[in-house]
Amino acid sequence: MEKMRSNISMAVIRRLPKYYRYLNDLVEKGVTRISSMEFGRILGFTASQIRQDLNCFGGFGQQGYGYNVEELRDEIANILGLNKTNNAIIVGAGNLGQAIANYSGFRGSGFILKGMFDINPRLVGISIRDIKIMDIDEMSEFIKKADINVGIICTPKEGAQEVADRLTGERIKAIWNFAPTDLDVPEDVIVENVHLSESLMVLAYLMNQRENAEDNK
Ligand code: NAI
Repeated sequence: MEKMRSNISMAVIRRLPKYYRYLNDLVEKGVTRISSMEFGRILGFTASQIRQDLNCFGGFGQQGYGYNVEELRDEIANILGLNKTNNAIIVGAGNLGQAIANYSGFRGSGFILKGMFDINPRLVGISIRDIKIMDIDEMSEFIKKADINVGIICTPKEGAQEVADRLTGERIKAIWNFAPTDLDVPEDVIVENVHLSESLMVLAYLMNQRENAEDNK
């Protein structure tokens, strides 16, 4: 296989989970190989887009054969780092924190939820799916003891920067941020923001566009 390029665009990276999801479904259906044309058809991408994307990682396909589905799925898992294990904690165990703790997909993405923390004493001691909510004062020791490398922030936005500072102070290098605020973190810390509201606004925009187009017909 050719060498993987190091300057892969974020646009390609953001498409990889979709490739992975579809390939997983194909493996489950017993499909062993697929052409870029057919793969493109089910994903809604063009065949050349697929070839271009996968070429960034060293081109897995073979002319006249297409892609070996299982091999490609495993390679993408490898590129995404899904085979590695990351230990995560949630900070802010309210509505959203608890909903995320109930999410069953962590392991499939290489993450293990180890603990939850909150400042509200009424929540401390409660368990969500066997994950205990602990007092925030226990966080520092827990991070070291349980070898935590990912922090998930589910606090109100007012407390989020302080939580991020605390997490990075404990040498946490990756934050999954749900609080609706941009975090200021040291350069070597990775932040992935998830904002349902932004996705909703895009939906609103698209609906608005469609309405306008229909009105102008
Ligand atoms: P909530 O009020 O139910 O929960 C917040 C929890 O954080 C509370 O239990 C509170 O005691 C705790 N908390 C506050 N300051 C803290 C600190 N410094 N350290 C530890 N824990 C702390 O609120 P909800 O509905 O769970 O929302 C939480 C956050 O998630 C909010 O910022 C909200 O805007 C955001 N959110 C984001 C979404 C997204 O798509 N990114 C979707 C829904 C909510």
